[in-house]
Amino acid sequence: MRRWILLSCVIVFSSWAFAQDIIRLPAPDKSASMTLFQALQDRHSERSFSERPLSLETLSSLLWAATGVNRTDGHLTAPTAVNAQDISVYVATKDGVSVYVPADNTLRKVTSTDVRKSVADRQQGVANAPVFLIVVSDLARLGDRGDRTVILAAEDAGYVSQNICLASTALGLITVPRYTMDRDALKQALGLTDSHRFMINHPVGYRAE
Ligand SMILES: Cc1cc2nc3c(=O)[nH]c(=O)nc-3n(C[C@H](O)[C@H](O)[C@H](O)COP(=O)(O)O)c2cc1C
Repeated sequence: MRRWILLSCVIVFSSWAFAQDIIRLPAPDKSASMTLFQALQDRHSERSFSERPLSLETLSSLLWAATGVNRTDGHLTAPTAVNAQDISVYVATKDGVSVYVPADNTLRKVTSTDVRKSVADRQQGVANAPVFLIVVSDLARLGDRGDRTVILAAEDAGYVSQNICLASTALGLITVPRYTMDRDALKQALGLTDSHRFMINHPVGYRAE
């Protein structure tokens, strides 16, 4: 009897922990009123963020625009070489880091550590941004293509980065694409392997008053 009670407690606790580790995002709102050409006109880099957090609705729209599923066959808003889908977007906030899973529109917790200072690195002026989107390529997904592998990964990341720039503009947010980040610290914090490359990151948020 005591064993069954113990087992039930373990199951209940595990499901609770699991629920905390997976956030099901609301469906992305694709009805932003700004036209693509207006977003292209307005896009620019900004680096002074307010600490106002992003709602889950806004985050969902931003992530979908970055690299969400846009067709029934599972293809994405951003193209990837040979449809390798090598790019993952990690979402860093004060509560830790999660990885965006386009297939089921969820965020999966990777760590509870606030890594924003490591992402900001030598530009601590942006460390207070409420969200950093960290764009990572898993080169293994591209296969062995010699010198071309890293070039293809950079091109794949570039599309995602531009999607983030334009979607941020359309959603009334500010951002800047940044190569700067402490890659060693982030590799350790996120538990990534040697096949992963930190391509670029985006602090995203509202303009400081
Ligand atoms: C590949 C790439 C890397 C960049 N890295 C950084 C960076 O590490 N830090 C930074 O403050 N801005 C960075 N930027 C932003 C550029 O400085 C910025 O885009 C450029 O000055 C043009 O300004 P605009 O984006 O307003 O047109 C980067 C931009 C690109 C495309």
